[in-house]
Parts: sequence; structure tokens; C-alpha cells
Amino acid sequence: MLEEADKRWLRKELGERVCFDESMRQHTYFRIGGPADAWVEPQSASELKVILEWTRKQDIPYLIIGGGSNLLVRDGGIRGLVIHLGRMAADVKWVQQGNAVTVSAGAGIPTKHICTLALKHGWQGMNFALGIPGTLGGAILMNAGTVHGCMADVIEKVTVMTPSGEKLELQRQSLNYRYRRLQLPEALSRSETASAILMAAQISLKPGNRDQIRDQARQWMRGRAKKQPSWQPSAGCFFKNPSEGQPAGRLIDEAGMKSVAVGDAQVSPQHANFIINRGRASAADVLAVAARVRGAVKDRFNIDLEAEVRIVGEEKTSA
Ligand code: EPU
Repeated sequence: MLEEADKRWLRKELGERVCFDESMRQHTYFRIGGPADAWVEPQSASELKVILEWTRKQDIPYLIIGGGSNLLVRDGGIRGLVIHLGRMAADVKWVQQGNAVTVSAGAGIPTKHICTLALKHGWQGMNFALGIPGTLGGAILMNAGTVHGCMADVIEKVTVMTPSGEKLELQRQSLNYRYRRLQLPEALSRSETASAILMAAQISLKPGNRDQIRDQARQWMRGRAKKQPSWQPSAGCFFKNPSEGQPAGRLIDEAGMKSVAVGDAQVSPQHANFIINRGRASAADVLAVAARVRGAVKDRFNIDLEAEVRIVGEEKTSA
């Protein structure tokens, strides 16, 4: 919990760019989540640095969130600060040299802006990410992807700020990319709730045939729209695919779990790897559905599903 003095400091430093007891419902695609003690939107790297130094001195945890598209916040909310980099989104810049296009962008920029830019110029490499919601920073950290590719395929370099406010550039060779996860070097983080912050990235694309790239984009988007329940609140695919050739969606479907619900949280009747919020679902409802799904897949196939969605915050106590 923040003390009154902490709140005063934040208000003095950030003015209207801090909100207290901010419901996370309005900041997640799931439309679920308890309150964050403080929701903070720094507008520059130097302001972010001042905030980080203060959290370290006061021993206050913080969590960085991007677009909130791959996030489930528990019903008790989040202690400490939730920092959103949306106001810091720098301009997107690019250079084309021969057969290479390098795009530089701030982490708070929506991923779709980069996709649209690539389509406009006829650069290939970003079509896989069409329809992936959220910010570039979030997409990079979770190595967002589809069957057509993932962020690790295009990342050239990232800029991070350590919890002590130091800015560092990490080249692609030093990035530890896994399936749906980028592991930043542990030495850069103070703790699980005070990690290094992704500030910006450089992406490498290739000039191509604009019409062909646009046709491909149309085809992939159509395929996706047919399969996925994109009009209902969810966090996208809930579980990681356990291995190639064994998509979680198919396993959950074959385990007979489509449409199973707890309260307003339901396994999508359309795509079994989506848990949707039909209206007033709580995080506890979603986690209860997820546990049933995991149990059914374990019973039927002896496979342990692992969440792809990031789950944060505290459970609600019934005090
Ligand atoms: N399937 C079923 N029943 C279902 C759902 C799927 O049998 O209810 C079968 C499909 O018929 C298909 C296979 O499972 O044969 C794979 O399904 P799909 O093509 O929808 O791909 P996916 O592996 O479920 C991945 C990404 C999605 C991305 C799509 C599109 C993961 C965990 N998911 O889904 O990403 O949009 O490919 O390429 O990698 C996300 O990350 O949030 C996400 C939704």
C-alpha cells in the first residue's frame, strides 16, 4: 500500500499523470482486474528515471504494462505502481539501405502502427503480426507471434532502462529469445516487481512487392477473423501451444471443453484457446475455467498446459 506521503510525492512530480486506486478493468483487453495503487504515465525517459530512483529508495514495487492485451490482473489488484509508457511513444523512424530497412520505434507504440507502415511502403517481415493487439514493447517481451512468424525474426536491437535508471542497448545476439518469451538478462532487474524496462527497439525488414504483401495481409487477416472471437473481451490465446503439431486450441477442443463456463468466463465456442469475458467475469472466474481446462487436457492427453497470458496482482481477500 502507498503511504499518504508517497501519494503526495507522486502527485507533485506527475500532476494529472498519476491516478490512485485505478481500476485495471479499463486498461486490459479482458476488461477484468482489481485496482492498482497508482497508475503512472511518465512522459519522458528522464521522468521515468526519477520515478525508478524513487521506487528504489522507498522500496516500492512497480510493474510495467503495455497495451494490456495479454494480461490478467487478479481481483485484489496491484500493489505499488503500474507504469504505462504510452505517453513516451517516440516517433517511428526508418532508413532503407539497399535490401534492408531498419525501423526504430518507442516501446509504447501500438504494434499495428509498424504493420501499417510496412504495408504502406511494401516492406516484408511484419505481416505475421497483423491483428496482434497491444504495444511493440509488449509484443517484443512476449515474443508475440503466429504460425507465420514471431518478433524474434525481426528484432535487431533493443534499448532498456535498468531499475537504477541506466540506459543500455542490447544487440540481437545477446537476446535470449524463447517461444513466446524474451528473457532479459537477470542482472538488469532488481526483483520480479522491479524489472528492466524496454524503452525502444530496432526492427529489420526487407523491401518487397507491395501488392503481393498487401494480398498476403488480406488473406491472413481474413483467416484469423474467421477463427478467432475478436469482438469479445479476452487476452488472446490463453495457453501456449505445448509443441508444434499440438496446438492448445485443438487439445482443449478434443478434451470437450469448448463453451465450458464459470460465471461470465467461458471457453470460447469459436476457438478453444480463448477464454472470453461475457460481461462481468472476475479474474477468479477466468482462473477457475483455466484450471478446469488444464485438468481436462491433463486427464485426456497427459499434457500440462502453460499460460501464455501474463497473470499479475493479488487475490481478493474477503475482508
Ligand atoms: N483448433 C481446433 N479447435 C479450436 C481451435 C483450434 O481444433 O477450437 C485447431 C485448428 O483447426 C488448427 C489448430 O488447432 O488446426 C491451430 O489453430 P490456429 O490456426 O487457430 O492456431 P493457434 O496455434 O491456435 C496461433 C497463435 C495465435 C495466432 C494464430 C494465427 C499461439 C498460442 N497462438 O494460434 O496467437 O493468432 O496462431 O496464426 O501461438 C495469441 O498469441 O494471443 C494468439 C491468439
